[in-house]
Parts: sequence; structure tokens; C-alpha cells
Amino acid sequence: MRYITIALAKGRLAKQTMKILGELGIKCEEMEDPSSRKLIFTDEEHGLRFFLAKANDVPTYVEYGAADIGIVGKDTIVEEGRKLYEVLDLKLGKCRMCVAGPASAKELLDNGSLIRVATKYPNIAKDYFHNKKHQTVEIIKLNGSIELAPIVGLSEVIVDIVETGSTLRENGLLVLEEVCPLSARVVVNQVSMKMEQERIGKLIEDMRSVITRE
Ligand code: PRP
Repeated sequence: MRYITIALAKGRLAKQTMKILGELGIKCEEMEDPSSRKLIFTDEEHGLRFFLAKANDVPTYVEYGAADIGIVGKDTIVEEGRKLYEVLDLKLGKCRMCVAGPASAKELLDNGSLIRVATKYPNIAKDYFHNKKHQTVEIIKLNGSIELAPIVGLSEVIVDIVETGSTLRENGLLVLEEVCPLSARVVVNQVSMKMEQERIGKLIEDMRSVITRE
């Protein structure tokens, strides 16, 4: 039997996903060993293979079919814009993509000023400002600690993930606009979906039953 390969975004999401799979009897003890540097793990009994990848790379592995299934945040799926099927909302890691900044930036957003927007998500920010709001802005790509940008004067606002809101609060920033709600999703390669319809379909339905039970 051919393995079904599942790419997991490294970190908390991978651990929470393994918990869901654990309830289905799918276990991968090897993956739980913190000292291991191994990247790929198998569950022979269920014909499954797992690997951990950087979140941004998960949609790439799935689009090319190197993984049949991927588990990754909606933010990454939208930002990467890969060709795949999004089949299930795991309702994990719920948060929001927002435009944030100091209270004084509200006016700049309302009157459509030419502002600078710092973000780790340039495609999401571009789509929001250009296509949805029809506001011309300059997008500045950063790789982390985005909240710094308006504080040090790199940009007027940011587009970033807000979960509890404490990072914004502790840095004197506010949510100014909401772009979209986010959570972890299951994505499937378009060819695998046809070729392995039965096995993949069953796995997804089983995962759905675990999350609706909780
Ligand atoms: C994310 C996000 C915010 C923070 C939001 O950053 O970019 O900075 O979490 O969470 P909160 O609303 O609960 O405070 P992350 O910790 O992933 O690191 P990063 O700054 O390197 O992107």
C-alpha cells in the first residue's frame, strides 16, 4: 500500500494535530522525542507518513504532491496562493488578520492616504488594500516582530496576526481594521484527492468527527 504523506507545520499546530490523530489511533511516538533530529516519521499500521516543515513551505509540498495532505494556518494558505483543495477547518489556533497601528493612524486609513504598511504577509496586505479597499499603499515586507515598525517609524500601520491582542496592547497599538478570521486548515493535493479519494476522504471525515465531538 502506498503511504499517504502528511506535511505538518512545525510547532504547536503539529502537536495539536497529532493529538487529534491520536484519538483516531494514529500514533507517531518517534515524533514526540524532543532530542530527535529526524524529519520524517511513519505509521506502518495506517500506511501514513508524516513530516514537519516550515509553515510557509507546507502549501508548496502539497501543491507539488510531495505531500498528499498538509496542515497549516489559513494565513499561510492565503499568502502562498498555491493550487490546492482546502477541505477542513480544524478550528485550532483561531486568530485574526488585522490592520493595526497607533490610534492616530485611523484617520490615514479613513481618508485613503498613501501610507506604508509593514507585514510578514505582503500578498494578503496587497490584496486587502489594493483590491478590497482600493487604497494605494506601500507594502514593506518584514520577517517578524512586526509591531516594531510603527513604533520606530518604518510604517504607519501593520498587517499582522492578532490572537490575544497582548502584543499590540503592550506596544501601545490598536486593531484598526479586520482583514479576515484565521485558523488551521487541512489542505489536499488536487491529484491525490482523485487518486486516493477513499483513504483521504475517510481520514478527513474521521478528523471532522473528532473536532465536532470536542
Ligand atoms: C505573532 C504575531 C503577533 C503575535 C500576536 O507573532 O505576529 O506578533 O503573535 O499574538 P497576541 O495577539 O496573542 O499578542 P509570533 O509570536 O508568531 O512571532 P513574530 O513576531 O516573529 O511573527
